[in-house]
Amino acid sequence: MAIPAQLRDSLQQFEPLPPAVSRLLRELGREDDEPLRGEISALIEPDKELSARLLRIFNSTYYSGRYPIERLSDATPRFGLSALIDVLLTDHLLCTGWSAELFGLNSLDFWLHGSVASLAVIETIRENPRKDISRAATLAALLHDVGKVAMSRVLLTSAKELSQVAQTENITFAEAERRVFGCDHSDVSAALAQLWGFPDFLVEAIERHHKVPLPDPTASVDAVALANLVAKTIGVGLGSEGLNFEMDPGCYTRLGLDFNAFCRVCARTAIAIKDMKAAYGLSD
Ligand SMILES: [Fe+2]
Ligand SMILES: [Fe+2]
Repeated sequence: MAIPAQLRDSLQQFEPLPPAVSRLLRELGREDDEPLRGEISALIEPDKELSARLLRIFNSTYYSGRYPIERLSDATPRFGLSALIDVLLTDHLLCTGWSAELFGLNSLDFWLHGSVASLAVIETIRENPRKDISRAATLAALLHDVGKVAMSRVLLTSAKELSQVAQTENITFAEAERRVFGCDHSDVSAALAQLWGFPDFLVEAIERHHKVPLPDPTASVDAVALANLVAKTIGVGLGSEGLNFEMDPGCYTRLGLDFNAFCRVCARTAIAIKDMKAAYGLSD
């Protein structure tokens, strides 16, 4: 849907992603990442604080296990490029402290919702590895709601007003956004992801996470829509929208998940939160 001009213009002024993330996003999907190892060192290691944080994260209980990572360039062969970008972006989101007041999300709520959705993609892949879900779908899950931040900065409507529209009209929160603003946050999130140079398949997954039925669903698109549901189901980042959203029920079957499998994904995601937060230096 069309994003209002004032909001679209404001996206150009939105803070850019760290240069290392922008550079590495262009390499997603590359088969041989060996030549990247030197570049990763050159991009990240001069920033001593960032390097120390990333090493701590990769050596945390959540990531590393028994074998420590001594250099960041060793993280890519071990965990993959998507995991490195995932950690860089998650750390960046925590440092920026973005919040989305229009949606009732303070900075911790906003960060947790995205990072827990990212965990949910990993748990969905673990639950059914035969489905072709890209590990990079975690990046779309991480940023699927970033449009809420941009909308909160520009659009002068309160969360209460949006909730009232949803309630009185008996519609979803995203539909209320469309009626009030002419677009919803998934359109804005996708526009930002495109500006930041995300590959098309991730922009699509972000843009479609509230579309019902999902047009041309792929495993990664389904996984991102499901990840939002998993985070909400376990009560992370409910905000003013709460559970007032729709999801294409075909997501479950296309991903090969029955009710029990969905519950396992929710439970394992919830269990992983403690270690994930500790990895990023947050107490439970
Ligand atoms: Fe959303
Ligand atoms: Fe969400």
